[in-house]
Amino acid sequence: MNPLISDFSAPSDPRVIVALDFPDAAATLSFARRLSPEMCRLKIGKELFTAAGPQLVEKLMAQGFQIFLDLKYHDIPNTVAAACRVAAEMGIWMTDMHATGGRRMMEAAADAVANFRQRPLLIGVTVLTSMESADLAEIGITRPLEESVLALAKLAQSSGLDGTVSSAQEAAMLRQAMGADFCLVTPGIRLQAGNDDQRRIMTPPDAIAAGSSYLVIGRPITQANDPLATLAKINLSLQTNA
Ligand code: C5P
Repeated sequence: MNPLISDFSAPSDPRVIVALDFPDAAATLSFARRLSPEMCRLKIGKELFTAAGPQLVEKLMAQGFQIFLDLKYHDIPNTVAAACRVAAEMGIWMTDMHATGGRRMMEAAADAVANFRQRPLLIGVTVLTSMESADLAEIGITRPLEESVLALAKLAQSSGLDGTVSSAQEAAMLRQAMGADFCLVTPGIRLQAGNDDQRRIMTPPDAIAAGSSYLVIGRPITQANDPLATLAKINLSLQTNA
C-alpha cells in the first residue's frame, strides 16, 4: 500500500463500493489502476458486464479488488440459483437480485451458494429508487412505498438473503426493523449537494450514521481529478465519525 496513505483512509473492511459506470474494459482497467483495493470495492453493472464479461471481473480480482456484480437477477428460481452459483465459482464478493422475484427464487439462490467456502453476499433489490408511488400503482402495487420496501426487505431476510439495496433515506428505518446484522447497501451518495441526476442524496458520514453498511459511489469518485485522494478523504470522514 502507498505509505503516504494513512491507515484511517484504508480500513480493513472498506465501506465504499465504487460504481464502475464505464463503457468498456480498457477505460475500466485504466481507471482501476488509479484506485487501491485496500480502500474500496468495485461494482460492475449490466452495461459493463455485457460489454466486457467475466474476463474483466477476473482482471480486476487479480489486481486484488473485491467485486459487487450488480446484475439484479429476476427469473425463475432454477435460473437465478444457477447464475448465483456461477458468481460464487468466480469468487464474486457480492451479487444481487430483485426481491420481487419471490421467496422461492431467493431461497434457491441462497441454497445454491451455501456450501461455498467463501460465498458471495446475496443482496435483494426492494423498490428501485427510480419508481415513485404512481409507477408502483401502474403495476398493481398500491400500498405506500415505504411499506413495500420494508415488506420486501423482510421477505429477502426470511428467504436467506444477507441484505438489501435501498436509498440511504430508507437506511434508518431498515436498520431499526431488520437488526444489526442485515447488510444495507446504499447508492445516491454525494460529498455535497450537486447538480447531477441523483435527487435523494446523502453524504457518506450521514449515510453510515443512518445505518448503511456499504456506500455505492460512482461519479464523485470516477470523475474526480484524483480518485484515490477523494476515496482517502471519504474513508477518513467515516473513521472520524465512527
Ligand atoms: O454516479 P453515482 O454515484 O450516481 O452512481 C451510483 C451507482 O449506483 C450507479 O451505478 C447506479 O446505477 C447505481 N444505483 C443507483 N440507484 C439505485 C440503484 C443503483 O444510483 N437505486
